[in-house]
Amino acid sequence: MIVTTSMGVNEQIRAHARQLAEKLGVPLVERAERSLNELRRMYQTEQVVVVTGKGARLEASGKQPLFFHPNTAAFRIKRLERGDTDIMLSVCQIQPGDHILDATLGLGADAIVFAHAAGTSGRVVGVESQPLIALLVEDGLRHWLSDSPALNAAMRRIEVVRQDHLTYLRQLPRKSFDVVYLDPMFAETVDASKGIEGIREYANVRSLQTEVIEEALQVARRRVVLKEGKTGKLHKQFGFTLYRKRAHQVIYSYREPIGGE
Ligand SMILES: C[S@@+](CC[C@H](N)C(=O)[O-])C[C@H]1O[C@@H](n2cnc3c(N)ncnc32)[C@H](O)[C@@H]1O
Repeated sequence: MIVTTSMGVNEQIRAHARQLAEKLGVPLVERAERSLNELRRMYQTEQVVVVTGKGARLEASGKQPLFFHPNTAAFRIKRLERGDTDIMLSVCQIQPGDHILDATLGLGADAIVFAHAAGTSGRVVGVESQPLIALLVEDGLRHWLSDSPALNAAMRRIEVVRQDHLTYLRQLPRKSFDVVYLDPMFAETVDASKGIEGIREYANVRSLQTEVIEEALQVARRRVVLKEGKTGKLHKQFGFTLYRKRAHQVIYSYREPIGGE
């Protein structure tokens, strides 16, 4: 893998590319008007990360590009600002100041909505096991600039952890987060999650392990919440209660820790 920039960039974008190359531990290559295919041939690599004014994207031959974008978070935050509700926040019973562990960060759209709702006194930690996704999303959360101050502020507040969620959950003290949220990859593609299709080829598709639910129930003070496709069966397998409010293509379910606070 190499990191380069788009053509004709300024010093700020070069500095961003340098920083990302360091984080990824791969060479930074001057673009010098060369095509991506020329760079691939010269550096004998399929994977090129291109940094532009809009952020970074991974271009791998034969695959969809992988890049961060706020996806559904942009319009969900707009709706919240208008006073609407968000079903994910309702099932999690989110209040300002909540501490939320998003154990399947992906492209971070759900985490951004959590960060907006939990506010400046809250905390959102997003865990992602796949280093490439974690690095590109962490980078995007720091650099993406939208015209919504609320969206920008929410993105900047998210803490990204590059680790398998089971390993991370095991290190945490009991009852250290209000909510633990799990949104594993769906087997099927549903309309509501088309925005994350770009990560499918890079994502961890392993099914949720029983130990993850057990650990999550130790860590959560209020609820462990699960999101899955409308035909998903994980909630049954793990004894979760369905949240009955109508959602389009996805279903939410939850379990509360025994013994409460
Ligand atoms: C469906 S996506 C999550 C989408 C996310 N909620 C959003 O709004 O963009 C699931 C993500 O969880 C990650 N994942 C799956 N298993 C994991 C594990 N054991 N530990 C950490 N991350 C995991 C996948 O790599 C993928 O990026």
